[in-house]
Amino acid sequence: MNFQTEIEILIRARYPILYVITSEEMRVQKVLVEIAARRQKKVFEWTYSSGIVPAGASIQSQKGRNPATKEPLAALDLVIDQVEPAIFLFKDFHPFLARNNFAVIRRLKDIALHLKNSRKTIVLISPVMEIPAELDKEITVINLPQPTKEELGELLDKAIEELRESQQVEIDLDGEGRERLLQAALGLTLGEAENVFAKIVVKNQRLSGKHVNEVFAEKQQIIRKSGLLEYYAAEEDFTSVGGLSVLKDWVNKRAVAFTDEARAFGLPAPKGVLLLGVQGCGKSLCAKAVSRLWQLPLLRFDMGRMFGSLVGSSEENVRRAIAVAESIAPAVLWVDEIDKAFTGSQSSGATDGGTTARVFGTFLTWLSEKTAPVFVVATANDVSQLPPELMRKGRLDEIFYVDLPLDEERAEIFRIHLTKRNRNPAEFDLPALAAASAEFSGAEIEEAIISALYDAFYAKQELASMHLLTTLSQTVPLARTMAEKVSEQRNWAIGRARNASVARPA
Ligand SMILES: Nc1ncnc2c1ncn2[C@@H]1O[C@H](COP(=O)(O)OP(=O)(O)O)[C@@H](O)[C@H]1O
Ligand SMILES: [Mg+2]
Repeated sequence: MNFQTEIEILIRARYPILYVITSEEMRVQKVLVEIAARRQKKVFEWTYSSGIVPAGASIQSQKGRNPATKEPLAALDLVIDQVEPAIFLFKDFHPFLARNNFAVIRRLKDIALHLKNSRKTIVLISPVMEIPAELDKEITVINLPQPTKEELGELLDKAIEELRESQQVEIDLDGEGRERLLQAALGLTLGEAENVFAKIVVKNQRLSGKHVNEVFAEKQQIIRKSGLLEYYAAEEDFTSVGGLSVLKDWVNKRAVAFTDEARAFGLPAPKGVLLLGVQGCGKSLCAKAVSRLWQLPLLRFDMGRMFGSLVGSSEENVRRAIAVAESIAPAVLWVDEIDKAFTGSQSSGATDGGTTARVFGTFLTWLSEKTAPVFVVATANDVSQLPPELMRKGRLDEIFYVDLPLDEERAEIFRIHLTKRNRNPAEFDLPALAAASAEFSGAEIEEAIISALYDAFYAKQELASMHLLTTLSQTVPLARTMAEKVSEQRNWAIGRARNASVARPA
């Protein structure tokens, strides 16, 4: 059901208070004005800066129009006093629903009862969800989906029409060019898309399908600004991953999974994997390698930032990130260190007020319902932080446990990193190095090589096994200092996750 139909049904069914989570106020307002016109209702809008005014009144004519109703309680009184059928749009009312606004919350609850027997509806629009427990039963939350290609098309057509009138701009847009522009603009809000189209016109004095790159550039800019997603230019492929043959095999088999041929054969598009395990053993490396192998763009989703104070965790932010990922699908969405989200929430405890859980819920829902070919690679270092919902079957295709590398895997990792540093691995005693690096992670092996290079360079010698063996003997791997933690994780993983490397001897 689309947004318009859904909200109209709720209004007709006299749901008293609707809550739309979005920053696109104008889009919602437009829909409501249309519904109101059909149902012979008036539309009013409330903001803290102007009080209640008829919707769409210009800012000049609003000036000081209804100052008394700036106060939330007074505004709510006016809703009760209004006799004719109406829709009241409250923009950014959420600060007044936060804790301790006892009077406003109670008044809204009383009004809800009154509205159920009237032809009036309150619609709250806000980019964040703030619903006090007292109002849980009275408020219905509706998501405003990102603009569809049709909506963007309407916007583009309107812009073109205006440009044609001005006649100073050359428009060279055939059906295919238009389609490409719109496809590129998917994931933007209508406001952002409007700005991008305007910018192209101002800059080039013309509009054509060739400008699709400028739309992409703008989208990257917006992605960057949102602070949650970044395009990641992966350089590593699976040749730089040592060991983990089970995981490699799994990924390899699915390399063709996003083709039409695979669809026709009856294969579903893979949903994603979760890589769990010891830090520094190549989980992030594998995420990057997947995008290289499958030749899909890689988007990195920053969970730590998501729940940090910088960006602010709102459902809208997550849905934006998801929409952007879907708009460039097929793509790989790399959710690095997903456990970080939960470390944050536990330490902030009560102050978080369930935001983390709710925002994460949005993500999980998408994971299980998504139809767009976005492959999720999530990684986690600390399994004890992960919510069990994530592990539920059907959300992801497979959960892999990435353990410390085994003997022959360590030899391979030495081979890879020596080669990267222009050394010939055949000149090194790999079995001895592997034996001397028990319990080292891949990252620690790499560090040992770098450290040995320093030693050799300082001694004006060519790097040899000897330098490496000395460094290894002087290093205590993390797995040894945190032995308990590592074995705890390993035990946890048995039976819950598939081992990413060769089957381990019992
Ligand atoms: N299995 C491996 N093969 C080759 N290099 C590895 C491996 N594991 C770790 N490394 C090296 O250590 C670096 C850090 O590993 P990373 O993938 O970030 O670990 P994780 O995400 O599991 O904490 C990698 O960029 C790579 O250079
Ligand atoms: Mg990592």
